[in-house]
Formats: sequence, structure tokens, C-alpha cells
Amino acid sequence: MTDIRDFLGRPLRDLRVSVTDRCNFRCTYCMPAEIFGADYPFLKASQLMSLDELTRLLRAFVALGVEKLRITGGEPLLRPDVPELIRAAKNELRIPDVALTTNGWLLEKQAPALKAAGLDRINVSVDSLRDDRFGALNGRGLKLDRVLAGIQSAATVGFPVKVNMVVVRGSNDDEIETMAEWARERRLTLRFIEFMDVGNHNGWSREKVVPAREIVERIGRSWPLEPCGPAYRGEVAARYRYADGRGEIGLISSITEPFCKDCNRARLSADGRLFTCLFASGGSNLLSVLRGGATDAELRETLAGVWRGRRDRYSDERAERLARDEQREKIEMSFIGG
Ligand code: GTP
Ligand code: 5AD
Ligand code: SF4
Ligand code: SF4
Repeated sequence: MTDIRDFLGRPLRDLRVSVTDRCNFRCTYCMPAEIFGADYPFLKASQLMSLDELTRLLRAFVALGVEKLRITGGEPLLRPDVPELIRAAKNELRIPDVALTTNGWLLEKQAPALKAAGLDRINVSVDSLRDDRFGALNGRGLKLDRVLAGIQSAATVGFPVKVNMVVVRGSNDDEIETMAEWARERRLTLRFIEFMDVGNHNGWSREKVVPAREIVERIGRSWPLEPCGPAYRGEVAARYRYADGRGEIGLISSITEPFCKDCNRARLSADGRLFTCLFASGGSNLLSVLRGGATDAELRETLAGVWRGRRDRYSDERAERLARDEQREKIEMSFIGG
């Protein structure tokens, strides 16, 4: 393995792959239904990375240091060959940590096959435990019960499950304590995510962000918390454990306490473009390099070249940028992978 560093000295360790830009949900903060309608130009099948192409690209990432693979979308479980991808990642490429982020809608049925394929863990998004609100947030009136059954199914087959809640002030911030209690009782790790200014359509404003510190204070009032150190360098979530031993929570504070300094994450969009930051406005088309007939060594060289030139630290710069009230075009999160 060649250990490469970016321009700011950060290694490449974590790859987030979007396997499809489609989703069966229309979360208001991610793919609002009025924008992502029937005529939205989603990628065509021929534009998506095939399983073989994906496996070849992954091999290059692993050769340059990737140890952690997260499969995302859109909604990754819409793609039928995800178990095969997991098998390749585990058996052929020997990636130590292979995880999936899903909205849980298709999880109940698929959890056993994902387990059999060798997937290590699953993160499921749940932004509300109130059925009416859950339906409104997912933009399609889809029922919470089915997602909860998916979480149950994943836990039953033996997956460590984390639940992600994007907290938006005035929308679901009244459920912080309820969600915490629900997760505590089930020994699920709940992560509160500060609402981010991803994409161009999600109605973000500073006022809608509930700072991680405020969340910790609120939960700590009901159940005392103690900070834990990071599980690994560059971990996105700051972790706190309940003093009574009933599990832990995580805070993903991209807005109020950015974590770009240790960011070792690369992202591959469903059409095979490499993005070096969640907020990047453009990516390097690795798939076209591959389809152009590049050898494995040439793929590695292309990837290494992009990583060495990486200077991204968007969240660190955000405060400044907010002050200047600058606007710029960004890529959609459902496209690049959450
Ligand atoms: P673990 O490996 O379980 O710690 O997962 P993770 O936090 O890396 O993955 P997950 O897909 O659950 O991510 C949760 C959320 O964290 C994402 O949806 C984003 O909101 C946020 N996030 C993850 N990586 C980054 C990043 O590199 N930058 C920023 N700004 N936010 C990120
Ligand atoms: N801010 C924060 N998190 C977001 N996600 C999607 N859009 C945003 C946003 N604007 C989260 C989803 C899921 C993860 C993949 O990304 O809720 O948990
Ligand atoms: Fe919602 Fe995730 Fe689908 Fe975006 S990709 S609309 S956050 S379920
Ligand atoms: Fe990494 Fe970009 Fe997120 Fe900073 S904003 S942590 S550089 S992905």
C-alpha cells in the first residue's frame, strides 16, 4: 500500500461511494419533491458505474490507503447488486470496515442478505418518531413503522446499527429528548447531525441549525453524559456516553465545530467522479479514465494526483464565508453520497 497525503498532510482512509443518485424518499432537506420531480434528469443506467467498474476503482483506492468503505446514495438499497459489491469489498479487496447508510425503507427484507454478504455495520436515518411528521419530512407520506422494522431486522441479524437524526430548528428539534430516550431503550447509538448547507435546494439558514453543544446540554439535563474520545482519528461524530452505562450518542457538528483538519474522506459519485469534499463543486471523472482503457497503475496515478492536490476545508472556511454571505454552486448530496 502506498500512503499518500493531500496538500494539507491528510491521508486517504475513508471512501464514501454513491451507488445510485435515485432515492425512494424526497426528504425536504435533501431532495425536495418540487425539484426532484418526475422529469428530474437522474443518471441513465449507462452512466452508472457497473459492479466491475466499481470494483476496479475500489482496488485503486485500497492501494492508496482506504480502509473504510461507506456505501451510500441516494438510497443504496435501490440497487440490486449491493450485496455483490459488499462481497467484492470484503472477500476480494479485504476492506476492514464496510458500512452502509440507508433510509431503512428496504432494510427489513434485505438485512439478512447484507449480513450474509459480509457487511460490517449499518447507519439508518430517522429524523422523527412522529408518523405524521416522518411522512412530511420524507416528502412522500411514507410510514415510519416500516423503517423501524428495518432497524429491528438489522439488529436481529447482528448488525451494529447507528441512527442518524438531522436536527432542523422549528421542524424536529422538539424531538431531541424523545429520540434520545427511544434510542437508549433500544441500545442504539443515536447521532445528531447539524443541518448543513449541502446542495442548492434545501432551504438552509443559520437559524435552522441547532448547535451540538445545545443538544448535549439538553440531553445531559435528563441523563448525565460524559465525553468519550474519538474511536479513530478523523471520526466525524463527537461521542458522549451516558453516565448510567446505557449506551452513547454522537454529535456531528459540521457547522459549529468543523472537523476538516483530520478529514481523510473521499467521495465517489454514482457516475464515477471523485469529489474531495462534501461541498466540492466539481469532481474528477475517474470512470471516464477507466472507460478510456487506463491500466490499474494509471488509475492509481490519476487518483493519487487528485488527492495530492487536495486543499478542501469547506466547513472550516464556512464561518468566514457566511460572514461574507457568499453563494456558490454546489453538488447535490443525493448525487455525491451523504
Ligand atoms: P461512522 O463511520 O459510523 O462514524 O459514519 P459516518 O458518520 O462517517 O457516516 P454517515 O453516513 O452516517 O454520516 C453521517 C453524516 O455525517 C453525513 O450524512 C453527513 O451529514 C455527515 N458527514 C459525514 N462525513 C462528512 C464530511 O466529510 N464532512 C461533513 N461536513 N459532514 C460529513
Ligand atoms: N444536512 C445534514 N445531514 C444531511 N443528510 C442529508 N442532507 C443533509 C443536510 N443538509 C444526511 C441524511 C443521512 C445522511 C446520509 O446524510 O439524513 O443521515
Ligand atoms: Fe432522504 Fe437520504 Fe433519500 Fe436524501 S438520500 S432524500 S436524505 S433518504
Ligand atoms: Fe472534509 Fe469537506 Fe467535510 Fe471538511 S467540509 S470535513 S474537508 S468533506
